[in-house]
Amino acid sequence: IPVDPFDLVIFGGTGDLARRKILPGLFRRFCAGQMPDSARVIAAARSAHDRDEYRRFVAEAIREFSGLRACEGGTLNGFLDCLDYAVVDARGTEGWADLASRLSPDRVRAFYFSVGPGLFGDLAERIHLHGMATDESRIVVEKPFGHDLASARDLNATLAAHFDEGQIYRIDHYLGKETVQNLMAVRFGNMLFEPLWNSQYVDHIQITVAETVGVGGRGEYYDHAGAMRDMVQNHLMQLLCLIAMEPPAKFDPDAVRDEKLKVIRALDPVEPHHIVRGQYNALDGEHPGYREAVGNPRSSTESFIVMKTHISNWRWAGTPFYLRTGKRLVARSSVISVMFKDAPHSIFGPDAGRHANVLSIRLQPNEGITLQVTIKEPGPGGMRLIDVPLDMTFADALGPEGEDPPDAYERLIMDVIRGNQTLFMRGDEVEAAWAWTDPIIAGWQLRGEVPKPYDSGSTGPGDADLLMKRDHRAWRGIN
Ligand code: BG6
Repeated sequence: IPVDPFDLVIFGGTGDLARRKILPGLFRRFCAGQMPDSARVIAAARSAHDRDEYRRFVAEAIREFSGLRACEGGTLNGFLDCLDYAVVDARGTEGWADLASRLSPDRVRAFYFSVGPGLFGDLAERIHLHGMATDESRIVVEKPFGHDLASARDLNATLAAHFDEGQIYRIDHYLGKETVQNLMAVRFGNMLFEPLWNSQYVDHIQITVAETVGVGGRGEYYDHAGAMRDMVQNHLMQLLCLIAMEPPAKFDPDAVRDEKLKVIRALDPVEPHHIVRGQYNALDGEHPGYREAVGNPRSSTESFIVMKTHISNWRWAGTPFYLRTGKRLVARSSVISVMFKDAPHSIFGPDAGRHANVLSIRLQPNEGITLQVTIKEPGPGGMRLIDVPLDMTFADALGPEGEDPPDAYERLIMDVIRGNQTLFMRGDEVEAAWAWTDPIIAGWQLRGEVPKPYDSGSTGPGDADLLMKRDHRAWRGIN
C-alpha cells in the first residue's frame, strides 16, 4: 500500500548510514511501489555537492547495498528523480532558508538526524527557527541515544523543547527486523505458547547476538561505548522486553511501549559475578586485535559480554535471562532461545534421556522460528526418543527467490511516514534502560575490571561457558 507523498530531509545524507541503509532501503520501497514518485528526499550536508553529484553517489550506493538486481534502469532513474541536495551548516545559518523553501506546505515532513547526537539540539532548534516544523513533522534520531542516564535525559529535554514525544522517532533497528515482529505475532497470535510463557514452564531464556565483524572504522566511538552501551542497553534490551512483556491490550504504540517499560523497570541489578566481559585478540595477522583496531593499547573496553539477569515480577520470578553479544566471534548469529523445562516425569524410563522443548527465534541469518519437539525415533527399534525441529523458515514467504528479506530500515522509515511509533523507543524507555545500565558500568570502573582476552573466531572467553556451567546449563551453539 503506497504511503502519501512526503518530504524526507536526511541530515548527514552523505554519511555511512545513509549510503548503506537509508537510501538503499528507500529505493527498495520505491521498487515495491510503496514510496510514491512524487515523494522527495533531500539530503542536507555541509559539503558542497550539487544534485547530479548526489544522484551519482546514491546510484552507486544502491548498486552496492540494495541487494536488488532486477530493479534497475527506468525505476532507478525514477527514484533518483526524487532526490535533491541542500548545503546546510548544522551549527550556523547557511543554507537553512533555502532548505525551508524547498519543502512542500501540506505534506508529512520527516527530518532524519543521521548525525552524531551532539548536533541534535542544533538541528531541532534551526528546524523551528526557520518555520519548518508543522504538525505533520517528525524527527528520526539514531542511537547512541546518550552515553548514560544523565546524557539521555539531556537529549530528551533538548528534543522536547522543540518537538512533542509523538513526533520523535528513536530508532532501534532491531525492532524493524522481520523476526522481531514475528516474535510478537507468535506470542500473541497463537494460543499455544502464551499459557506456557512463564517461570512455571520456562527454565531459562538465552539471547545471543554474535557478530563476525570487528569494530571496523568505528574505533573511536566504540572504545567509549563497548558492547554494553553499543548492544546491550538497546538491541538486547529491546529483545528482552518483547520476549518478557505482558500482552499489550492492543498493538498500538503506547500500549506496547508501556509494557516494555514495565519489563525494564522490573529488571534486577546484575551481580558482578554474573557478568563476563571479553576483548578479542588478533587473528593470525589476518585481523588486528581489539586494542590495535581502536588504537588504544591499554583499552579496557569490552567487545564481548555475557550476563545473567532476572526480572522481578510475577511471571518471571526465578527464571534467568542470559544475554550474550560480541564481535569477531565464530559466526554471525542472532537467536533467542526459549528453553522450556523438562516434562515433570518421564514415563519412558531413565534411558530415554532428557528432552526439553526449545523455541528458537532466529533473527539472522536464515530468519525463522524453530520449535524443538520430542518424538519417537521412527522404525521398529523400540521406544527411543529423539528431538526434531518444527521449522518455520521465512525465506520462502519473503518474496522472489534470490532477493534479500526487507531490511529493518526500510520498514522503519515507512512507519515514520505513516506516523506509527510502535517500533520506536519512547523517551522513558531509553532512560529506564540507562538507569539499569549505569550502575553496572560504574561497578566495573570502581573495581578497575579489565575484560578477558578471547581469540577472534571463537565463542568468546572460557569464563562465559563457566557462568552457564555453574548453573548446570549450557549455551546454545553459535552457528
Ligand atoms: C549497531 C551497532 O547498532 O548494530 C554495531 O552499533 C553492530 O556495533 C550493529 O554491529 C549490528 O546490527 P546488525 O543488524 O548487523 O545485527
